[in-house]
Amino acid sequence: MCGIVGYIGNKQAQDVLLHGMSKLEYRGYDSSGIAVFNDGDVTIKKTVGRLANLAELVDGPDRITGSQGIGHTRWATHGRPSDENAHPHQDQTGNFTIVHNGIIENYIPIREELIAKGHVFLSETDSEVVAHLLEELWTGDLFETVLLVNKRLHGAYALGIMSKYEPGKLIAVRKQSPLIIGLGQDENFIASDIPAILEYTRNVYILEDGEMAVLTQDSVKTFDLAGNPTEKNVYEVTWSASAAEKGGYEHFMLKEIHEQPKAIRDTLTGRISEDGQRVVFDEIQWPENFAQNIDRIHIVACGTSWHAGMVGAAALEKLTRIPVSCEIASEYRYRDPIITENTLMIIITQSGETADTLAALREAKARGTRVVAITNVVGSSAAREADDVVFTWAGPEISVASTKAYTTQLISLYLFAGWLAEQRGSVGATQVPEILAALRELPELAEKALGTSDEVKAFANEWASKEHAFFIGRGLDYAVSLEGSLKLKEISYMHAEAYAAGELKHGTLALIVEDVPVVALVTQDDLYDKTLSNIIEVKTRDAYVLGIAWEDDKEIAKSVDRVIRIPRTLPFLAPVLAVIPLQLLAYYASTARGNDVDNPRNLAKSVTVE
Ligand code: F6R
Repeated sequence: MCGIVGYIGNKQAQDVLLHGMSKLEYRGYDSSGIAVFNDGDVTIKKTVGRLANLAELVDGPDRITGSQGIGHTRWATHGRPSDENAHPHQDQTGNFTIVHNGIIENYIPIREELIAKGHVFLSETDSEVVAHLLEELWTGDLFETVLLVNKRLHGAYALGIMSKYEPGKLIAVRKQSPLIIGLGQDENFIASDIPAILEYTRNVYILEDGEMAVLTQDSVKTFDLAGNPTEKNVYEVTWSASAAEKGGYEHFMLKEIHEQPKAIRDTLTGRISEDGQRVVFDEIQWPENFAQNIDRIHIVACGTSWHAGMVGAAALEKLTRIPVSCEIASEYRYRDPIITENTLMIIITQSGETADTLAALREAKARGTRVVAITNVVGSSAAREADDVVFTWAGPEISVASTKAYTTQLISLYLFAGWLAEQRGSVGATQVPEILAALRELPELAEKALGTSDEVKAFANEWASKEHAFFIGRGLDYAVSLEGSLKLKEISYMHAEAYAAGELKHGTLALIVEDVPVVALVTQDDLYDKTLSNIIEVKTRDAYVLGIAWEDDKEIAKSVDRVIRIPRTLPFLAPVLAVIPLQLLAYYASTARGNDVDNPRNLAKSVTVE
């Protein structure tokens, strides 16, 4: 996910681009750059790091003057964050300049073809091929050439394009990745999202998938990708600038909760073979026989990532039958863990920068252990230091409380467990096709699980005045209970505890009194009766029980006060869906209490101290 901005008009393009990019930093922030047309030439300034670094680079005497330009804020996918990989990109003649959001899937053969023809590439990105293709296919007409280039590209992309041959013109192309056109007075804009242009205009065209636009200072014409003109209605933005930044949601957390169906889809993309039978993990390159020889797996992480690890441990043990432990990073490091040359370590970290997790990674590496990092951030310390990296592709997560990072970590772990079972020929490998089929349905089912929102909100409003809550479940439901309880406490500031349901009677049951809220998860069919007995134990003490159960569970309503129902999938995959109402519960409890949802007190998004 990256952010694109383009401007053509009578203002200084640099100012408009930097302002627009500041509103898109949520789409990525590991490097940024601008290209501005001035005196028939194009000047590019770009740099690794946050937008502030770029602003410094083009400050004072280094300011680039000119009233037409394109800008980009990057979330690295192909190629680590670096000055060279930052956008905009040009071909070697400097005649074509582009910014790109998305992935050009067939960039490798195109790049090889162009190198053979003498093109010199300066970056590791998939994007740079677009500038070179424009040069290679140049017909003498920019619009025509862009149509030809489009025909060569596969994948999802949004492009901003300008050429020295045709000053006074910007071209925008949308194929799957979002792109809008801002319509001003003697000025027009391109942007990945509305907030980037709201300072200047509220009138926009929302480009459809497979549509492009040609912008001059005083006109915008739209076309399909075959070059036929299209008709567009002007959409007038009525939301506030801050609501627009959050996609119309009140908080980033709610936006990110709702992004989960897409994030899950993105995590799965390219990782299931076409026949649906196998997991594809080309990113993992292990020495011969390593997979066969693994004798134990240590999963190490903190907080929500640790909770994902608990589900991952169960999935790995089930499918590979290798003993797996899942440990808190700050503990692991100091307990002198038993590590053999055949130990595999998996670290899970959204940010890739959590100090405790990195310390555990370094400790393991110092002892010769092979480390796989499951992380969301390309170019993060975890991604750079681990032997192998599995990216979760959740897109930037802004809210401190992790939501889509957790569900995509789960998906990555299920895939990894299936892949490892296949590599070892474990008995569990026979279940992989069925699991893959169910995984593919999860984006749609997650969408349905989001449909519980109003019900959960009503419930959260009633509950918000309580001071304590308990979450119970068995097996995978216990792992999800831990996450539900953490989410609730970190943003609502209610005291919440998660218990393995069978453990309550060993002490905690003393705290269960009249009206104490208990969230009971009952998605594990083989443990159903046992969990039901535990629910009855708390009901007998007059607790108020909210059940999280399957949509087709006919029994549960008799034993609990209220039920939130989630769509059916394999019990093995239930955590991905069961967590959604719990995230919503935490969110609505927090808003009902008037808390700062996205920035809870005392907490930081990336914990870089031990
Ligand atoms: C809770 C939360 C934290 C993080 C933890 C680890 O919502 O986000 O518990 O999961 O700080 O962070 P990462 O995954 O970046 O290592």
